[in-house]
Formats: sequence, structure tokens, C-alpha cells
Amino acid sequence: MNDLQKAQYKEKYLRAKRNGEKFFPDSLYRDMLVMFAIFLLLVGLAAFVGVAAEPKADPSDTAYIPRPEWYFLFLFEMLKFFPGSLEWVGTTVIPVAAVFALLLLPFYDKNPARHWKKRKFAIGFMSVVVAAMVFLTIRAVVTTPAQENAGAVATTLPAQISAGQDIYSVQCAECHGAEGEGGVIKGVKGLEGYKMKAINSQDEMYTRMDDTLYNIVEYGQPDLGMPPFGKAFGGELSRSDIDNLVTFMRYTWDNRVEVPKGAAQTNAIPALGPNDIPSYDVNIAPIVKRYCVSCHRPGKENNNYYMGSYSDLMNSGDHKPNIVAGDLNSNLIRMLHGEKIEAGGAMPPTKALSPDLISIFERWVKAGAPEKPAK
Ligand code: HEC
Ligand code: HEC
Repeated sequence: MNDLQKAQYKEKYLRAKRNGEKFFPDSLYRDMLVMFAIFLLLVGLAAFVGVAAEPKADPSDTAYIPRPEWYFLFLFEMLKFFPGSLEWVGTTVIPVAAVFALLLLPFYDKNPARHWKKRKFAIGFMSVVVAAMVFLTIRAVVTTPAQENAGAVATTLPAQISAGQDIYSVQCAECHGAEGEGGVIKGVKGLEGYKMKAINSQDEMYTRMDDTLYNIVEYGQPDLGMPPFGKAFGGELSRSDIDNLVTFMRYTWDNRVEVPKGAAQTNAIPALGPNDIPSYDVNIAPIVKRYCVSCHRPGKENNNYYMGSYSDLMNSGDHKPNIVAGDLNSNLIRMLHGEKIEAGGAMPPTKALSPDLISIFERWVKAGAPEKPAK
């Protein structure tokens, strides 16, 4: 800045000061109004939009890919250009240089002009930086793989109960029975013939706190034959899974707890009117999932009969076909009635299905065992 510029600037400053406004309170007041508006906006966003829930943090979950918030993604993406031993350039040198460049701005940018057209270098340089940040952010979003099972987090109580029911049906029913009723175990290695006590009893529910149930599932009771299910111990269940499981047990088996509206419906096996034709998708799949899949899925021997999908249900098993469309003498139907046949004994082994459920199977087989509901 030369002397002439300085004199001009000072004059302009004095003029502005004469007819200008005071910092306190005028300017401060305006700033506060804007701050308050932003504060209200944030409260509104937090209350009505919120943050998408992710599963509970679980240090033993190796499938989880940690990643920064979107506004840090450009930094994260930059690391990809500095692999291995050069990482420190991307994590430290460049960000620190950028901060210093901003701090030292008054010392090297002495251009007195304020109109953007007269500040070509500053505007141009900043545009390049912003464009690079936008580019890196977009690149990061596009190239990062989606989180596995993201979005599958149950956040409401009914959704948690229902998620817990599904986990229970697959992981626990083979030993504890579909409803926690216990009984004599069949088809489980090491526990063949063991008489399991009920875990759905009021005795059990009144004497076990949620924490205790959580720990039993996470750590197991290996000396008694109950395997650990926590991921840290080689099991399949994450912390949110076990939470959901405990919520399910508490709300289903503890008669002191009131079941919230909506929870009962999400768990219910769909009802069937007297003239409706049952289908696999609507009627059979939920029953099979609750009462059979725990023992009849890949990894379990049980005559290699897998019941996880329509085609497996119809076509797998050592004594297949276990279902013959239209034939009430099909293995599966006879075993539901507790008959002992070549394929095996009563199914499920511990406790017969209720007559209502058996009749759904019978009506379905009689109608030709359709997969999809009739239109
Ligand atoms: C391989 C068989 C097996 C599986 C699968 C299994 N358990 Fe167990 N569980 C046992 C055995 C055995 C015991 C000990 C029971 C006893 O003392 O009679 C037990 C005990 C329990 C107890 C009672 C402990 C107590 O002190 O009262 C609870 C609760 C329980 N299991 C919950 C579960 C849940 C929930 C699952 C599913 C994640 C599950 N179990 C899966 C075999 C199993
Ligand atoms: C507790 C474990 C368990 C549960 C639950 C269970 N099964 Fe089984 N299932 C077995 C075992 C074990 C066998 C082998 C035969 C035997 O030992 O009786 C078997 C065999 C079968 C077979 C003969 C398969 C073949 O091709 O040989 C059919 C059909 C069958 N089960 C149907 C069902 C149905 C339907 C349900 C649910 C309503 C069910 N099972 C629930 C353990 C189970």
C-alpha cells in the first residue's frame, strides 16, 4: 500500500465511522439474532431429523468399516494419494500448511481492493481449493463400499422385539425350544437327550436381570453346554443383536412387563381366514422360521434338510421330497403329527406345533404348496 492509498483509505474509514453504527450494541445484536436462528435450526434438525442409528459400537466386530463424517471425507480421501510411509504428508503436512496459509494471510495478501473482480489471485486460488475439496468428497462417497447390513438397525421397541425374535428363532430355538420351553434335546451335538429346563418361566425371568441375560448370551455357559454368542468369543451376535434378544425375551416371557401396542402384531404369525389359501411367502415361511430353521439350516446336520427358502424346503433332505404337493402323507405332515417314520420322529422334537399351525401346513400342502399368494 502506498501513501496515497493509505490516505484515501483513512479518509474513507473516518467517513464510515461518522455515519456508521456502533459494534456494541448494534452489530452484536444482529449477530446474536443470526446465531439464535441457527441454534433454532439445529434444535429442529436434531429433534425432527436426527442422526441415522448405527449398531452399537463393538470392538470385536471386524466387519465394521469405520469412516469419518462427510465433512472430513476429503481429508480421508487425500490419504489414498499418500500410501504407506508417505501417509504423514497427507495427514500432517498438507493440513498444517493450509492452516498456516490462512493464519498468515494478512502478511502476504496486502491488496487493498475489496471487489472480487480486483482480487483475481485470491479468488482463483480459493476456488481451486474448494473445487478440490468437493472433488475429493464426491470421490470418497463414490468409491467407499457401503457398510455391511447398514440400515438394519432396529430403533423402536416393536422393531427391537421383532429383531430379537428372529435371532432367537435361528440361534436359540434348537436347544431351548421355539418358545423357551425347554424339553429333551434332539439333534444337537454334545447335548443329545439332555433335559433342558425352561428359560421362559417366571422363575427365570424374575431372577435374571437384563444384564445377566445379556452376559449369559455373550459369554455362554460353556461348562453347562451353552455356547458363547458374542463376536469377541467366536459367536455370531453383535452387541445390538444381543440387546434385541434380551428385549425380546423380557417383553415376551416376563408377565410383569406390558407389551407396547404394535409389538404384538409385528411378531404374530399371520392369521388365515377359513377360505384363504395359504402360501409359502405369507403363511409358511414365518412358521418355519420360528419353529424349524434353527435346526434345519446350513451348518446343522439334521438329515441335511434345510428350510431357509422355498426351494430348499421342497427339495432338500436325505428323505426328499419331504413335501409332495397335494399329498397329506408327505413326510413333513406326518412328522408334524408326531408319527415315527423312516425320515425321523416327531417334529419339532421337543414340543408339537399347536393344531392351528399344523392345519395351516395341511391346507397349504392340499392346495398344492404354492410359493406365492393367490391373487
Ligand atoms: C447348543 C445348545 C444351546 C444353544 C444354541 C443356546 N443355549 Fe442357552 N443354554 C444351553 C444350556 C445347556 C444351558 C444350561 C441349562 C441348564 O442349566 O439346564 C443354557 C442356559 C441358558 C440360559 C439360562 C441360564 C440360567 O442360569 O438360568 C439362558 C437365559 C439361555 N441359555 C439363553 C440362550 C439364548 C438367548 C440363546 C440364543 C442366543 C441360547 N441360550 C442358545 C444350551 C444352549
Ligand atoms: C431341535 C431341532 C429340530 C427342530 C426345531 C426341528 N427339527 Fe426337523 N429334524 C431334526 C432332526 C434331529 C432330524 C433327523 C431325524 C430325526 O432324528 O428324527 C430332523 C428331520 C426332519 C425331517 C426329515 C428330513 C429328511 O429328509 O430326512 C423333516 C421333514 C423335518 N425334520 C421337519 C421339521 C419341521 C417341519 C420342523 C418345524 C416345525 C422341524 N423339523 C423342526 C431336528 C429338528
